[in-house]
Amino acid sequence: MKKVTTSSLLKMKQEGQKITALTAYDASFAKLFDEQGIDLLLIGDSLGMVLQGCDDTLAVSIDDIAYHTRSVRKGTKRAFVVADMPFMSYSTPEQTYQNAAKLMAAGASMVKLEGGEWLMETITGLNQRGVPVCGHLGLTPQSVHVFGGFKVQGRDDLQAELLLEHAIKLAQAGIQLLVLECVPVDLAAKISEQVKIPVIGIGAGPKTDGQILVMHDMFGISANYMPKFSKNYLEESGDMRLAVKQFIDEVRQGAFPSELHSFN
Ligand code: KIV
Repeated sequence: MKKVTTSSLLKMKQEGQKITALTAYDASFAKLFDEQGIDLLLIGDSLGMVLQGCDDTLAVSIDDIAYHTRSVRKGTKRAFVVADMPFMSYSTPEQTYQNAAKLMAAGASMVKLEGGEWLMETITGLNQRGVPVCGHLGLTPQSVHVFGGFKVQGRDDLQAELLLEHAIKLAQAGIQLLVLECVPVDLAAKISEQVKIPVIGIGAGPKTDGQILVMHDMFGISANYMPKFSKNYLEESGDMRLAVKQFIDEVRQGAFPSELHSFN
């Protein structure tokens, strides 16, 4: 069993092999996902919604993420572990480095930041200090109040052009992975083609280099509602291991997401 690394993720993109990813927040689920062969686990600030029952991710703290990262790391042998930097935890260089250090010490192998070109210096500074970075563009949930709700991004030409430019700039600054959330299929395909790093989609159609879902959505047990871009994998099999296996197989075969789970 070879551990997944930034190099193997890049190789998967280059060889056209889809990357499979789920969020995880504890050791037991991390172990279950890891044993089924998931490539990447994200300790997402979505935990504010699916674990803490909030309406958004804004109240999640760095200590919350560090706590769950420690648990996920203990359950993981093979998958690559990425931890979210929560809302306002990367506003100044000093604050960013201290908080990233907490997550790396807790067991993350990479941190994820939401935002565009304005993060370039932050990304370079983290890289220089030994912290790999994942970008996150499109519907970035920490900006939900700027967007006026959880809405698909990049639908008009100007917005789409801007998102592509941000992706290119983030890649130039040194991100080694990009999450693209809730953008139209064609835009996600264009961004995935134009950047050399792997692009992991969520609500971004089938043409990205991989797919991620929030684990509670994939099991169909989220407290609030089921997003259009997700699929309840537990419904068919009634078995958690089979559900995860089916998600992994469908992503690898290009069967998920279908048009039903995508935006235009
Ligand atoms: O917080 C999270 O779970 C995320 C995923 C939706 C990509 O950022």
